[in-house]
Amino acid sequence: MKSIVIGGIILIIALLAGTWFAAGDAFKGNEFGDIYINVLTLIGAVAVITITVFVVIKYVNQMKNDNAKGELADENWDGIGEYKNPVPTGWAIMFIGTILFMFYYFTIAYPINSFSQIGQWNEETLDYNEKFEAKWSNPTTEELAEMGKNTYLVQCAPCHGVDGYGIEGKAHNLTKRINKEQVLYVINNGANNFKSDYPGGMPAGMAFGEGAERVAEYVAGGFKGEAPAEYAACAGCHGMDGKGMPYVGPNIAEYDDALVMTVLNNGKKGVIGGMPAFTGRLNETQQKALAAYIRSIGE
Ligand code: HEC
Ligand code: HEC
Repeated sequence: MKSIVIGGIILIIALLAGTWFAAGDAFKGNEFGDIYINVLTLIGAVAVITITVFVVIKYVNQMKNDNAKGELADENWDGIGEYKNPVPTGWAIMFIGTILFMFYYFTIAYPINSFSQIGQWNEETLDYNEKFEAKWSNPTTEELAEMGKNTYLVQCAPCHGVDGYGIEGKAHNLTKRINKEQVLYVINNGANNFKSDYPGGMPAGMAFGEGAERVAEYVAGGFKGEAPAEYAACAGCHGMDGKGMPYVGPNIAEYDDALVMTVLNNGKKGVIGGMPAFTGRLNETQQKALAAYIRSIGE
């Protein structure tokens, strides 16, 4: 046997061994037991390797042994010339076919049938949203709080702490509506974080000195007992009960849905620091769920 064929056979064995070494595990199958797919793939690999090696051998032989014959073209470059051969029919058909396929692909196949990752993502997202809406069309308060808890632990706990107390005062303590220091801060500085929901913002200087202290204590204390006279200046926007009014002032007595959603969509800067906006990252149900959860951990 010619040495080149022996070399080829050795190469085939080496490549097969390599394939087995890399992918032989596939024969063991998986929990679904569908080994036959892997077997088919491996048989395909064997066929590809064998055919490749023999085709290579054929051409190496041809290059070694064939003598070129035919009519030389007139041009030559540094003595290197070219034979005048007709274009092989198969090659010509392939060439023209490729051009035709290009037109077909650009004008029809790609625009009409193309697979697109973005398209698939959109479809799957719509699909998921539909399922989500169907499942959560009418949740009970407990279900909402449970869902809110899961979202909270992932998105909010890193700052507000797993128990909602805020980590060493670095974020708002969510078990209470608001503390005295925070109320005083807005009274003295005003605030305008929620422009889209409360266009007027909170003006600074609605109360001063001891009056401000008294109001802050009353608000932070959860509106218990009799309102200090100075609270009248606040009631116009936040209501006598502190529960707020749409477009005028937020609820400062408890975490209602509107307040929590406003904070989530706008973020918030206050005496403690900055709370990032979660705009577009949580849907309405998730936002209400978070509000329900925050109310459920209230003291
Ligand atoms: C003109 C209407 C108006 C008046 C009067 C007003 N507020 Fe406000 N208040 C607002 C608005 C609007 C906000 C939301 C601020 C923002 O966009 O960040 C707010 C926010 C607050 C907050 C912060 C809520 C939070 O979660 O951070 C507190 C506390 C507060 N007000 C207390 C008071 C007190 C106490 C008074 C009276 C001394 C008062 N407000 C008077 C409109 C008002
Ligand atoms: C990067 C840290 C951080 C993350 C994450 C974070 N927060 Fe906050 N949050 C803060 C800080 C800081 C404040 C206090 C802002 C201030 O000084 O009033 C705050 C305040 C709040 C307030 C109170 C607003 C008020 O004063 O009445 C609510 C409600 C709130 N966060 C809810 C959430 C929810 C729900 C999540 C999760 C979706 C969340 N936060 C994620 C840092 C964070």
